[in-house]
Amino acid sequence: MWKWTLGLAIVACLLVGWSQFGQTREQANAPADKKKEGTPKPDKKTVKELMTRKLDHSQKLLAALIKNDLPKAAAETEALIRVRKEAAWMIVKTDTYEMWSKDFTQNAEDLIKAAKDKNLDAAKLRYLELTLTCFHCHAYVRDLGDISYPSFEE
Ligand code: HEC
Repeated sequence: MWKWTLGLAIVACLLVGWSQFGQTREQANAPADKKKEGTPKPDKKTVKELMTRKLDHSQKLLAALIKNDLPKAAAETEALIRVRKEAAWMIVKTDTYEMWSKDFTQNAEDLIKAAKDKNLDAAKLRYLELTLTCFHCHAYVRDLGDISYPSFEE
């Protein structure tokens, strides 16, 4: 029986320790956030959520094209453009990043047009081009080193 009590006590200590750890981290971050009040920066959670949605729509887009469902393909691409337009997308502010972003939008718009023209082959090609911009931009971002949210580090 005492073993259980001891076990519970240890678990309780761990839980208390963990929650306090969380609090200290939040407190530690607070002043840094305040310091940058002038420049609105997307928070890490928003960026992650946004980027994950991007992957979700591009996978659904691939599925739609494979099933020859052009209206669905157009809808998923429109969703991708909406993701692209969100402020959190521009977490890297360089000309190259902007160039890949523009490329992304252009390929997406061409894909929508091809889908609306019921041109499956053109839509498939645009999908490949669009996916290449995913690779290009990601390779670029990785080359920058740990750009991961420069605003959240330091
Ligand atoms: C113009 C640049 C750009 C383009 C184009 C782009 N991404 Fe991203 N993506 C980013 C950046 C920046 C991040 C965040 C990188 C980091 O966290 O270090 C990111 C992160 C991601 C993540 C990771 C999210 C996570 O959980 O950490 C996924 C998945 C992703 N992108 C998918 C895609 C897909 C799919 C496409 C193409 C349809 C695409 N991206 C196109 C810039 C881009």
